[in-house]
Amino acid sequence: MVLLDIIEGVPQGKALDLTEAAPIEKHDAHVAGTNAYDVSKGSHIVIITAGIPRKPGMSRDDLISTNAGIVKAVTEQVVQQSPEAILIIVSNPLDAMCHVAYETSGFPKERVIGMAGVLDSARFRSFIAMELDVSVENTHAFVLGGHGDTMVPLARYSTVAGIPITELLPKERIDALVERTRNGGAEIVGLLKTGSAFYAPASAAVEMAESILKDKKKILPCAALLQGEYGINDLFVGVPVKLGAKGVEEIIEIQLTNEEQAALQKSATAVQELKDVLKKLK
Ligand code: LAC
Repeated sequence: MVLLDIIEGVPQGKALDLTEAAPIEKHDAHVAGTNAYDVSKGSHIVIITAGIPRKPGMSRDDLISTNAGIVKAVTEQVVQQSPEAILIIVSNPLDAMCHVAYETSGFPKERVIGMAGVLDSARFRSFIAMELDVSVENTHAFVLGGHGDTMVPLARYSTVAGIPITELLPKERIDALVERTRNGGAEIVGLLKTGSAFYAPASAAVEMAESILKDKKKILPCAALLQGEYGINDLFVGVPVKLGAKGVEEIIEIQLTNEEQAALQKSATAVQELKDVLKKLK
């Protein structure tokens, strides 16, 4: 595993720290820290997190012009070193940065995937478990749409031990959990003040990488390029996808109610607006 950053010493220090945790974590993985892209040559998966984080009061969309330039520059270097890689994008605004990486890399759509739904679903699951005082392991949740204010947590498909939460909680409590999920990233930014969440986004990206590296074919909500699915065209939007060795191996189309479809469409419109902003930046 290679950790790469432009700041001298930081990836080297983090890599050494992780290496020193290995005897306790019981693994023999080799972790290198570097400021040079050639060390990452031939990577199977590249997780791009580069960019500036939000400050309190900012939306993810406020980052677009700065982070579009950073993600473009990073993608160009990654493609040179690892032309066969699968890209997992984490930088914000997520759905727009997927477009930047997709267009810059020229990779097929199967190999450019955005991390958002796994994180948003994990937040929703945490809040459901807290609310019902049950193990998080009993929870399952689906959050579709863009990684922003228009994300679409699907209560009907969110369950505890297989029971839809709509059977377990009154509507106003579900609405409150949905709202907390939508603001999950901002809640952390508000507390940290100088950065955004680390641990849950990292765990989410790792779950996606593991499904790809081990060809597990997990169905996970991820940002994928839609070409007609869900009635959406040429936009990265969060939907359930099957993640395996080839990257996005299938986009799963689940039946949505009219209200859910309208919410997903609203989310897609928000992504389209950011895509239009990107066009003006060029
Ligand atoms: C968040 C950032 C990573 O949701 O978008 O915490």
